[in-house]
This record gives sequence, C-alpha cells and structure tokens, in this order.
Amino acid sequence: MSNSVTIMIDGKKVEARAGETILKAAERAGIYIPRLCAYKDLIPHGSCRVCSCRVNGRIQAACVQTVAEGMIVENETEEILAFRRSIVDMLFVEGNHFCMFCEKSGLCELQAMAYRLGIAAPQHPYLEPERAIDLSHPDVYLDHIATFLGVESPR
Ligand code: FES
Repeated sequence: MSNSVTIMIDGKKVEARAGETILKAAERAGIYIPRLCAYKDLIPHGSCRVCSCRVNGRIQAACVQTVAEGMIVENETEEILAFRRSIVDMLFVEGNHFCMFCEKSGLCELQAMAYRLGIAAPQHPYLEPERAIDLSHPDVYLDHIATFLGVESPR
C-alpha cells in the first residue's frame, strides 16, 4: 500500500501523505487555505469552518478532512471565498467584535482574516449578546464560553 496519494487543489496536482489533512497537504505544496481554529499545538477540531473547501462537490473543513486518492479540492473559487466571508462575518456579529474600539486591534487574527477576505464591515446585524466576563485565568480572558454553557463565571 502506497503512503502517498495524489489530489488536485484548484487544478494543481498535489502529492499528499496518506492520512494527512487537506490543510497539511496544501501547506506543503505552498497553497494557502485560510484558517482560524487550526493551530499546530492543538488537535484539529474543525470548529470555525473558515478553512472550508469544496471537496468532491461537498463543502468540507480542510483542517479535519483527510486526503483520498483523486480528491478534487476547490479552494480559491468565488463561491468558497463568499462562504468564508459569510462565516467570518457571522463570527464578528455574534461575538461583540468592534475593531475600532478593541485594544487588540492590529494583533487580532479575526480582524486580519476579515482584511484578507475583503470584509470592510459586517453584512449581518450585530447580535450584541450580553456575556459575563471571566478574568479568573491569568492568561485567558473569557467573554462567552461560560455564558454559552449556561454556567456562572467565577468571581
Ligand atoms: Fe477552523 Fe478548519 S481552521 S475549521
């Protein structure tokens, strides 16, 4: 059994390692697929969907979808770019993200992704959820997980 498979990404032939994700195969081939939740030190979990590509006709998250022989991946199509813009747009409006008032402006991956995708302003209305702020951890500032899970933030 071969340890490599051949896939096509935007019409380019890519040699991939059996069992690796589309995202990893693309990286090794010098093809950029946008991502937000895929980090080298985290287990891939496919939560943000920004890496979505059309794979053999279906939308799939490239960070968790493993390669298969003959796979056809569409990454840079107008349809996929619009899909990613919509996802990033929804992340902005559901999370109280206002770049011009945010102290992280200029050091924010969500903001950078919005610029990369050409989002000047969200297309959806802001949801403005009220969320408790959890400052109990010295390194992490949580403003939504506890509320989302329906538990009280520690004081
Ligand atoms: Fe977030 Fe793939 S990078 S789902």
